[in-house]
Amino acid sequence: MAQAAGLACVRCGAAYPLTRYAFDCDRCRAESPSNLTVRYAPDACSAIRREALAAGPRTLWRYAGLLPVEARDAVSLGEGMTPLVLAERLGNNLGMRLFIKDESRNPTWSFKDRLATVVVSAARQIGARVIASSSSGNAGAAVAAYAARARLPCIVFTYQGAAGPMVTQMRAYGAMVLATREKADRWTLLEKGVRRFGWFPTSPFFAPAVGSNPLGVEGYKTLAYEVAEQLNWQAPDWCVLPVCYGDALYGMWKGFEELRRLGWIDRVPRLVAAEIYGSLGATLAAGGDALVDMPKSHDTLATSISATRGTYQALHAIRESNGTAVLVSDDDLLAWQARLAAGEGMYAEPSSVAALAAVSRLRAGNVIEPGQSVVALMTAGGLKDVARTARGQGEVPVVPADLDAAVDALRAVYGFSPE
Ligand SMILES: Cc1ncc(COP(=O)(O)O)c(C=O)c1O
Ligand SMILES: [Zn+2]
Repeated sequence: MAQAAGLACVRCGAAYPLTRYAFDCDRCRAESPSNLTVRYAPDACSAIRREALAAGPRTLWRYAGLLPVEARDAVSLGEGMTPLVLAERLGNNLGMRLFIKDESRNPTWSFKDRLATVVVSAARQIGARVIASSSSGNAGAAVAAYAARARLPCIVFTYQGAAGPMVTQMRAYGAMVLATREKADRWTLLEKGVRRFGWFPTSPFFAPAVGSNPLGVEGYKTLAYEVAEQLNWQAPDWCVLPVCYGDALYGMWKGFEELRRLGWIDRVPRLVAAEIYGSLGATLAAGGDALVDMPKSHDTLATSISATRGTYQALHAIRESNGTAVLVSDDDLLAWQARLAAGEGMYAEPSSVAALAAVSRLRAGNVIEPGQSVVALMTAGGLKDVARTARGQGEVPVVPADLDAAVDALRAVYGFSPE
């Protein structure tokens, strides 16, 4: 474990005690609300040796020396150490070395397990009695699973109309899911519960959202550690992520920055936010720190990343790494979901392929140069949200027990001829 010294504002550096994990920075609120982040004593990581990692568990807890919780206190389901798959065909077509970090291989089938394992472990250590989250998707499903593992009650606020596999998944783990009629009321209730009963919040719960619980965001640093280790301590040129609150983007940047300071890698990759409404892109274009609120110009099938306003922590990671933000469309997502599944055998949730859509746009604009190495984060698997894929496929052809009829159907429906 790395001994946490407290929290600090991502924007102004103001120091806060560790117990402030539920709130943003007082000083920055008027100008540009900012999340806090865990700060460590200057020599907290100096005893860590890269060579010792291999002896650790094959989970993200092999990096416990860089996390704020002891490995022996971890609430773990075997998360992390997900494959970094070289997508040769897609990469060759795009003219780059393209890797896909397949986060669907985590215990609840998304990258949110990195947040959940660290935040629930920290909650248990602090003595929290109730885990609480506002989520309709992967984050709620992940904390529900880890809360079950920790034998802590878990409350998830969602809104009426949210449905589908992830809400079912939360309830399967025993989470108490409540829906509000108005979307904004989820946060009101969570805030009141935090203040009145001391519930331990893992997600944002006030506007504007600045990011999730900073103890959980530390879990995303392991994305950087794993990518660096899997590439034999060479940093890739680019890392591209689908972004909502920017927790994973910021955490990954922080992880790379720590490795650079430790001397384990020589540079930090350029980090890219793939977004649906373009708040980070508009903010970068405008300059300054005030996040631009975008109109909800259209509905999107990327429900997991449908925020119309970015966060300061995401902006910080992009600027510090000389990265950028890229707008992607629903058509892009459908096309890349199909290409990734049929071309590489990897079926991703629509939001997840936003990273690939952004990669192809950056390559088309020659921002990513020929031959560069690129890691696209596939944040969750396609089974999290199959409805749209199913709609595009149409009915499965029904055939009699007659091979000629089956061959006719293969030809007619799939254009496949066995001869
Ligand atoms: C599948 C998927 N991808 C990406 C994101 C964006 O995550 P973050 O809030 O870390 O930017 C989410 C989270 O809401 C998600 O569920
Ligand atoms: Zn501040």
